[in-house]
Amino acid sequence: MKLLNELFDNNQRWAERIEAESPDFFEQLSKQQNPQYLWIGCSDSRVPANDIVGLLPGELFVHRNVANLVVHTDMNCMSVLQYAVEVLKVKHIIVCGHYGCGGVATALGNEKHGLIDTWLRNIKDVYVKHQACFTDQLSEEDRTNLLCELNVIEQVHSISKTTIVQDAWNSGQKLAIHGWIYSIKNGLLKDLNVCLDSSEEVDPIYRVSTSDNAQR
Ligand code: CO
Repeated sequence: MKLLNELFDNNQRWAERIEAESPDFFEQLSKQQNPQYLWIGCSDSRVPANDIVGLLPGELFVHRNVANLVVHTDMNCMSVLQYAVEVLKVKHIIVCGHYGCGGVATALGNEKHGLIDTWLRNIKDVYVKHQACFTDQLSEEDRTNLLCELNVIEQVHSISKTTIVQDAWNSGQKLAIHGWIYSIKNGLLKDLNVCLDSSEEVDPIYRVSTSDNAQR
């Protein structure tokens, strides 16, 4: 017995529609992928990466996790980053958060939720770093949304600190890291204006020297 028939029906219609609009689409795509962008977004079901930016299969390399975090010890995220930068040679990395993120809101509280608390600890660290911005005048919603924005900016910097990205920059590869935030209330994106595209913008303590690269 096939379960979830409605999803298979949807799939059939979707594949037929794409083929009708662009014959041989899947056949051509099966030969290679050549995306220009890596998208790092939240797992939230209301933030569908390709749809938001109107890109087709093959155009966006995607990594999603709860609250769009880039943790340098996360093998999963680092592997995606390495493959995207070194093999696919994407030109842009987009960290896209969203207002009203449940992960971020939860990180602002003290309730116990199990394993996820360890993951969300990373967001508490972002809060502590910018604690002075969280004045008493802010409503709960404002506090969450401010931390959503700060969290995106922090992850952009986190990506810039990796040897993967710095090696690319040092070898002359064109690569920019962007921080965006999406509103689930109106479907629109906002650029947070944190675009990093060279090692000079990385705090010196995190810089990887180019001479070390040459010795390898
Ligand atoms: Co979220």
